[in-house]
Amino acid sequence: MTDTVSNEPVKGHARLERNVTLMAVATFLTVTIGGIVEIAPLFWIDNTIEKVEGMRPYTPLELAGRDIYIREGCYTCHSQMIRPFKDEVERYGHYSLAAESMYDHPFQWGSKRTGPDLARVGGRYSDEWHVQHLTNPQDVVPESVMPQYGFLKETDLQVTDVGANLTALRRVGVPYSDTDIAKAKADLAAQGNPDLDAGDLEQRYPKAQIRDYDGNPARLTEMDALVAYLQMLGTLVDVNSAAAQEELAEEKGR
Ligand code: HEC
Repeated sequence: MTDTVSNEPVKGHARLERNVTLMAVATFLTVTIGGIVEIAPLFWIDNTIEKVEGMRPYTPLELAGRDIYIREGCYTCHSQMIRPFKDEVERYGHYSLAAESMYDHPFQWGSKRTGPDLARVGGRYSDEWHVQHLTNPQDVVPESVMPQYGFLKETDLQVTDVGANLTALRRVGVPYSDTDIAKAKADLAAQGNPDLDAGDLEQRYPKAQIRDYDGNPARLTEMDALVAYLQMLGTLVDVNSAAAQEELAEEKGR
Protein backbone atom coordinates (compact mmCIF):
# COMPACT_ATOMS: atom_id res chain seq x y z
CA MET A 1 0.00 0.00 0.00
CA THR A 2 1.27 3.52 -0.80
CA ASP A 3 0.30 6.94 0.48
CA THR A 4 -1.92 8.68 -2.11
CA VAL A 5 -0.25 12.05 -1.51
CA SER A 6 3.45 11.30 -1.01
CA ASN A 7 3.47 7.94 -2.79
CA GLU A 8 5.63 6.55 0.06
CA PRO A 9 4.85 3.00 1.29
CA VAL A 10 2.55 3.00 4.40
CA LYS A 11 3.95 1.19 7.45
CA GLY A 12 3.09 0.19 11.04
CA HIS A 13 0.14 1.74 12.79
CA ALA A 14 -0.75 3.95 9.83
CA ARG A 15 -1.28 0.83 7.79
CA LEU A 16 -3.56 -0.67 10.46
CA GLU A 17 -5.63 2.51 10.56
CA ARG A 18 -6.14 2.60 6.82
CA ASN A 19 -7.09 -1.06 6.32
CA VAL A 20 -10.65 -1.73 7.51
CA THR A 21 -10.27 -5.52 7.61
CA LEU A 22 -7.01 -5.39 9.55
CA MET A 23 -8.52 -2.81 11.92
CA ALA A 24 -11.59 -5.02 12.49
CA VAL A 25 -9.44 -8.07 13.27
CA ALA A 26 -7.23 -6.08 15.66
CA THR A 27 -10.28 -4.55 17.40
CA PHE A 28 -11.85 -7.99 17.79
CA LEU A 29 -8.68 -9.40 19.34
CA THR A 30 -8.35 -6.50 21.77
CA VAL A 31 -11.98 -6.72 22.92
CA THR A 32 -11.73 -10.51 23.26
CA ILE A 33 -8.69 -10.31 25.54
CA GLY A 34 -10.38 -7.67 27.67
CA GLY A 35 -13.54 -9.77 27.86
CA ILE A 36 -11.73 -12.96 28.85
CA VAL A 37 -9.83 -11.19 31.61
CA GLU A 38 -13.13 -10.01 33.11
CA ILE A 39 -15.25 -13.11 32.59
CA ALA A 40 -12.87 -16.05 33.01
CA PRO A 41 -12.32 -15.71 36.81
CA LEU A 42 -16.09 -16.07 37.33
CA PHE A 43 -15.86 -19.69 36.20
CA TRP A 44 -13.32 -20.55 38.91
CA ILE A 45 -14.76 -18.79 41.92
CA ASP A 46 -17.94 -20.30 43.40
CA ASN A 47 -19.49 -17.09 44.54
CA THR A 48 -18.89 -13.39 43.99
CA ILE A 49 -20.68 -12.49 47.20
CA GLU A 50 -19.02 -12.86 50.55
CA LYS A 51 -21.27 -14.61 53.04
CA VAL A 52 -22.06 -12.70 56.19
CA GLU A 53 -23.23 -14.01 59.50
CA GLY A 54 -26.96 -14.07 60.12
CA MET A 55 -28.06 -14.25 56.50
CA ARG A 56 -30.58 -17.05 55.93
CA PRO A 57 -33.25 -17.90 53.33
CA TYR A 58 -36.77 -16.51 53.80
CA THR A 59 -39.24 -18.49 55.89
CA PRO A 60 -42.26 -19.73 53.89
CA LEU A 61 -44.47 -16.99 55.41
CA GLU A 62 -41.95 -14.23 54.62
CA LEU A 63 -41.59 -15.65 51.13
CA ALA A 64 -45.37 -15.59 50.63
CA GLY A 65 -45.36 -11.96 51.80
CA ARG A 66 -42.60 -11.17 49.39
CA ASP A 67 -44.63 -12.67 46.54
CA ILE A 68 -47.55 -10.41 47.51
CA TYR A 69 -45.17 -7.43 47.61
CA ILE A 70 -44.15 -8.24 44.03
CA ARG A 71 -47.71 -9.03 42.89
CA GLU A 72 -48.99 -5.68 44.20
CA GLY A 73 -46.15 -3.78 42.53
CA CYS A 74 -44.82 -2.21 45.75
CA TYR A 75 -41.45 -2.10 43.98
CA THR A 76 -42.79 0.48 41.53
CA CYS A 77 -42.65 3.04 44.34
CA HIS A 78 -40.17 1.55 46.82
CA SER A 79 -36.50 0.63 46.48
CA GLN A 80 -34.70 -1.86 48.75
CA MET A 81 -31.12 -0.73 48.63
CA ILE A 82 -29.56 1.89 50.85
CA ARG A 83 -26.69 3.49 48.96
CA PRO A 84 -23.48 4.24 50.87
CA PHE A 85 -24.06 8.01 50.97
CA LYS A 86 -24.28 10.09 54.11
CA ASP A 87 -27.80 11.37 53.46
CA GLU A 88 -29.15 7.86 52.77
CA VAL A 89 -27.44 6.27 55.76
CA GLU A 90 -28.76 9.02 58.05
CA ARG A 91 -32.30 8.57 56.80
CA TYR A 92 -32.59 4.81 56.32
CA GLY A 93 -29.81 3.21 58.39
CA HIS A 94 -26.63 1.32 57.56
CA TYR A 95 -26.04 0.95 53.81
CA SER A 96 -27.10 -2.37 52.28
CA LEU A 97 -24.53 -5.17 52.01
CA ALA A 98 -24.36 -7.35 48.90
CA ALA A 99 -25.00 -10.48 50.97
CA GLU A 100 -28.27 -9.09 52.28
CA SER A 101 -29.95 -9.68 48.93
CA MET A 102 -28.10 -12.88 48.02
CA TYR A 103 -31.24 -15.04 48.37
CA ASP A 104 -33.50 -12.62 46.47
CA HIS A 105 -34.84 -13.99 43.20
CA PRO A 106 -35.59 -11.53 41.69
CA PHE A 107 -33.81 -8.78 43.66
CA GLN A 108 -35.81 -5.74 44.75
CA TRP A 109 -33.06 -3.09 44.72
CA GLY A 110 -34.81 -0.65 42.40
CA SER A 111 -34.20 3.03 41.97
CA LYS A 112 -37.74 4.43 41.83
CA ARG A 113 -38.51 6.14 45.10
CA THR A 114 -41.97 7.61 45.17
CA GLY A 115 -42.00 6.27 48.73
CA PRO A 116 -39.06 5.69 51.09
CA ASP A 117 -36.50 2.87 50.77
CA LEU A 118 -37.67 -0.22 52.66
CA ALA A 119 -34.40 -2.18 52.97
CA ARG A 120 -34.34 -1.66 56.78
CA VAL A 121 -37.97 -1.01 57.59
CA GLY A 122 -38.15 -4.21 59.73
CA GLY A 123 -38.83 -3.43 63.39
CA ARG A 124 -39.17 0.32 62.79
CA TYR A 125 -42.94 0.31 63.31
CA SER A 126 -45.39 -1.94 65.14
CA ASP A 127 -47.49 -4.55 63.34
CA GLU A 128 -50.60 -2.46 64.12
CA TRP A 129 -48.97 0.53 62.45
CA HIS A 130 -48.31 -1.51 59.28
CA VAL A 131 -51.84 -2.94 59.18
CA GLN A 132 -53.34 0.52 59.62
CA HIS A 133 -50.94 2.10 57.14
CA LEU A 134 -51.52 -0.58 54.48
CA THR A 135 -55.29 -0.41 55.00
CA ASN A 136 -55.38 3.35 54.65
CA PRO A 137 -52.01 5.13 54.38
CA GLN A 138 -53.72 8.51 54.64
CA ASP A 139 -54.82 7.71 58.24
CA VAL A 140 -51.17 7.69 59.24
CA VAL A 141 -49.60 10.10 56.75
CA PRO A 142 -52.38 12.44 55.53
CA GLU A 143 -50.53 13.61 52.40
CA SER A 144 -49.50 10.07 51.33
CA VAL A 145 -50.05 9.04 47.71
CA MET A 146 -49.72 5.34 48.58
CA PRO A 147 -52.72 3.22 47.49
CA GLN A 148 -54.92 1.33 50.00
CA TYR A 149 -54.46 -2.40 50.49
CA GLY A 150 -57.19 -3.19 53.05
CA PHE A 151 -58.36 -6.20 51.01
CA LEU A 152 -55.22 -8.10 52.07
CA LYS A 153 -56.75 -8.36 55.57
CA GLU A 154 -59.88 -9.95 54.12
CA THR A 155 -58.07 -12.40 51.85
CA ASP A 156 -57.02 -15.83 53.13
CA LEU A 157 -53.40 -16.58 52.32
CA GLN A 158 -53.38 -19.27 49.66
CA VAL A 159 -50.14 -20.73 48.44
CA THR A 160 -50.76 -23.62 46.06
CA ASP A 161 -47.59 -25.56 46.81
CA VAL A 162 -45.28 -24.03 49.40
CA GLY A 163 -42.69 -26.79 49.08
CA ALA A 164 -42.50 -26.33 45.31
CA ASN A 165 -41.68 -22.63 45.78
CA LEU A 166 -38.77 -23.58 48.03
CA THR A 167 -37.63 -26.29 45.63
CA ALA A 168 -37.58 -23.80 42.74
CA LEU A 169 -35.46 -21.40 44.78
CA ARG A 170 -33.13 -24.22 45.80
CA ARG A 171 -32.48 -24.92 42.11
CA VAL A 172 -31.13 -21.40 41.71
CA GLY A 173 -28.89 -21.68 44.76
CA VAL A 174 -30.90 -20.84 47.88
CA PRO A 175 -29.82 -23.38 50.53
CA TYR A 176 -33.17 -24.78 51.67
CA SER A 177 -32.76 -28.21 53.30
CA ASP A 178 -34.95 -31.25 52.64
CA THR A 179 -36.52 -30.69 56.05
CA ASP A 180 -37.32 -27.06 55.17
CA ILE A 181 -39.12 -28.26 52.06
CA ALA A 182 -40.94 -31.12 53.78
CA LYS A 183 -42.14 -28.83 56.58
CA ALA A 184 -42.82 -25.79 54.39
CA LYS A 185 -46.59 -25.93 54.66
CA ALA A 186 -46.58 -26.42 58.42
CA ASP A 187 -43.98 -23.64 58.85
CA LEU A 188 -46.16 -21.25 56.86
CA ALA A 189 -49.13 -21.79 59.17
CA ALA A 190 -47.12 -21.91 62.40
CA GLN A 191 -45.26 -18.62 61.97
CA GLY A 192 -48.50 -16.64 61.71
CA ASN A 193 -50.29 -18.36 64.57
CA PRO A 194 -48.58 -18.62 67.99
CA ASP A 195 -51.17 -21.20 69.11
CA LEU A 196 -49.78 -23.76 66.70
CA ASP A 197 -46.63 -25.77 67.42
CA ALA A 198 -43.79 -24.15 65.50
CA GLY A 199 -41.46 -27.10 66.16
CA ASP A 200 -37.87 -26.34 65.23
CA LEU A 201 -38.78 -23.40 62.97
CA GLU A 202 -36.58 -21.01 64.92
CA GLN A 203 -33.57 -23.33 64.78
CA ARG A 204 -33.86 -23.68 61.03
CA TYR A 205 -34.67 -19.99 60.50
CA PRO A 206 -32.87 -17.96 63.18
CA LYS A 207 -34.58 -14.67 64.16
CA ALA A 208 -37.88 -15.85 62.65
CA GLN A 209 -40.63 -13.78 64.28
CA ILE A 210 -43.49 -16.05 65.28
CA ARG A 211 -46.74 -14.20 66.00
CA ASP A 212 -50.09 -13.13 64.68
CA TYR A 213 -49.40 -10.06 62.53
CA ASP A 214 -52.78 -8.76 61.39
CA GLY A 215 -54.63 -8.75 64.72
CA ASN A 216 -56.77 -11.78 63.88
CA PRO A 217 -55.12 -15.03 65.03
CA ALA A 218 -58.05 -17.12 63.78
CA ARG A 219 -57.19 -16.43 60.15
CA LEU A 220 -53.98 -16.54 58.16
CA THR A 221 -54.37 -13.70 55.68
CA GLU A 222 -52.29 -12.07 52.97
CA MET A 223 -51.86 -9.18 55.43
CA ASP A 224 -50.13 -11.57 57.89
CA ALA A 225 -47.67 -12.61 55.20
CA LEU A 226 -46.92 -9.11 53.91
CA VAL A 227 -46.37 -7.65 57.39
CA ALA A 228 -44.17 -10.65 58.33
CA TYR A 229 -42.04 -9.85 55.29
CA LEU A 230 -41.84 -6.11 56.03
CA GLN A 231 -40.95 -6.75 59.69
CA MET A 232 -37.91 -8.89 58.82
CA LEU A 233 -36.46 -6.62 56.12
CA GLY A 234 -32.89 -5.66 57.01
CA THR A 235 -32.97 -7.32 60.44
CA LEU A 236 -31.04 -10.56 59.84
CA VAL A 237 -27.47 -9.30 59.68
CA ASP A 238 -25.64 -7.45 62.42
CA VAL A 239 -24.57 -4.88 59.84
CA ASN A 240 -21.95 -3.04 61.81
CA SER A 241 -19.87 -6.11 62.58
CA ALA A 242 -20.48 -7.61 59.11
CA ALA A 243 -19.41 -4.43 57.32
CA ALA A 244 -16.33 -4.18 59.54
CA GLN A 245 -15.38 -7.76 58.66
CA GLU A 246 -15.89 -7.04 54.97
CA GLU A 247 -13.61 -4.01 55.11
CA LEU A 248 -10.95 -5.97 56.99
CA ALA A 249 -11.04 -8.75 54.39
CA GLU A 250 -10.71 -6.17 51.61
CA GLU A 251 -7.72 -4.58 53.27
CA LYS A 252 -6.01 -7.95 53.62
CA GLY A 253 -6.64 -8.62 49.94
CA ARG A 254 -4.92 -5.40 48.90
C1 HEC B 1 -47.88 4.92 44.29
C2 HEC B 1 -46.66 4.64 45.03
C3 HEC B 1 -46.68 3.61 46.16
C4 HEC B 1 -46.98 2.26 46.09
C5 HEC B 1 -47.47 1.47 44.89
C6 HEC B 1 -46.71 1.72 47.39
N1 HEC B 1 -46.26 2.70 48.23
FE1 HEC B 1 -45.63 2.45 50.13
N2 HEC B 1 -45.30 4.46 50.31
C7 HEC B 1 -45.47 5.38 49.29
C8 HEC B 1 -45.24 6.72 49.84
C9 HEC B 1 -45.34 8.02 49.06
C10 HEC B 1 -44.89 6.57 51.19
C11 HEC B 1 -44.54 7.67 52.22
C12 HEC B 1 -45.83 8.18 52.88
C13 HEC B 1 -46.47 7.12 53.72
O1 HEC B 1 -45.87 6.67 54.71
O2 HEC B 1 -47.59 6.69 53.37
C14 HEC B 1 -44.93 5.13 51.45
C15 HEC B 1 -44.60 4.54 52.68
C16 HEC B 1 -44.54 3.19 52.92
C17 HEC B 1 -44.06 2.59 54.14
C18 HEC B 1 -43.49 3.33 55.33
C19 HEC B 1 -41.99 3.48 55.14
C20 HEC B 1 -41.32 4.34 56.15
O3 HEC B 1 -40.11 4.12 56.36
O4 HEC B 1 -41.95 5.21 56.74
C21 HEC B 1 -44.15 1.23 53.98
C22 HEC B 1 -43.76 0.16 54.99
C23 HEC B 1 -44.72 1.00 52.67
N3 HEC B 1 -44.93 2.20 52.05
C24 HEC B 1 -44.98 -0.26 52.16
C25 HEC B 1 -45.59 -0.47 50.92
C26 HEC B 1 -46.03 -1.77 50.46
C27 HEC B 1 -45.84 -3.07 51.22
C28 HEC B 1 -46.58 -1.58 49.25
C29 HEC B 1 -47.25 -2.62 48.35
C30 HEC B 1 -48.32 -3.39 48.96
C31 HEC B 1 -46.49 -0.17 48.93
N4 HEC B 1 -45.89 0.47 49.97
C32 HEC B 1 -46.90 0.40 47.74
C33 HEC B 1 -45.82 5.10 48.00
C34 HEC B 1 -46.22 3.88 47.51
